[in-house]
Amino acid sequence: MDAVIQFTSQSQGRDRIFRATQYACALSIYVLRNNPDRKDLAKKLKSLEVHMSAGRKLFRLGNTVNSIDAAKRTMQLSDRVLCLCLTVANINRALYFICDNVLWAKSVGLIHSIDKERWSLNASRYYFFSIVMNLTRDVYVLSQLMVQRARDKHFRQKMNQHLSESPEIAEPVIPQLDAFLFLLLEILKSHPAVALDTLKNICDIFIPLDRLGIYQSNAGVVGFCGLVSSLIGIVTLAQPKLKVKP
Ligand SMILES: *[C@@H]1O[C@H](CO)[C@@H](O)[C@H](O)[C@H]1NC(C)=O
Repeated sequence: MDAVIQFTSQSQGRDRIFRATQYACALSIYVLRNNPDRKDLAKKLKSLEVHMSAGRKLFRLGNTVNSIDAAKRTMQLSDRVLCLCLTVANINRALYFICDNVLWAKSVGLIHSIDKERWSLNASRYYFFSIVMNLTRDVYVLSQLMVQRARDKHFRQKMNQHLSESPEIAEPVIPQLDAFLFLLLEILKSHPAVALDTLKNICDIFIPLDRLGIYQSNAGVVGFCGLVSSLIGIVTLAQPKLKVKP
């Protein structure tokens, strides 16, 4: 099992590069959609996109084990909220990979008797829940950091100074919003790992939202969000200090 876990962790970098390429293709196809001169290019990009997606599915075969292992680890977290969010996220992620592996087996002809559409929808559902739990984690971590910072005396002075220097604020409701945004921005600036993870999860959620028909965007939005999220994934893999912990 350890070998499987280690191997799939190593293949993460490759998966992220494939994923970035896949969504870059999707975005380019969307941008080129009304350009008749670029039909050939669009066709090539489509083929590349399909290949990337299929290649990723093959590399993901060990990821179920990896996610279950991660769930076992997050179950030990002493913070109840983090423990719940991350464990549920990891279990949903494991279920997502099971669906994904079944779809892969179907696509290469290993199994025939499954309803492809249903498994694909279930895969999106599990993926969606996993991201929602990850986002909940981000909101929780951010709110904790904000409460901590708001209690800090030096920070309060800085914030009051900022607020008194903003002459455009007149309404009594708006200073609170302004203070909130100021605080949030300060936290995001001083905790880039949390900021990146939040942005990544916000981008990621558009993909299943579109697939499940909850919020229909278009292929351009999905391509763009997928690309941004994949690039953040590459950055956090290359710079582990930018990866949110646990
Ligand atoms: C949720 O967060 C965990 C821990 O950071 C991560 O391993 C996992 O890939 C995330 N899930 C999704 C669907 O992005």
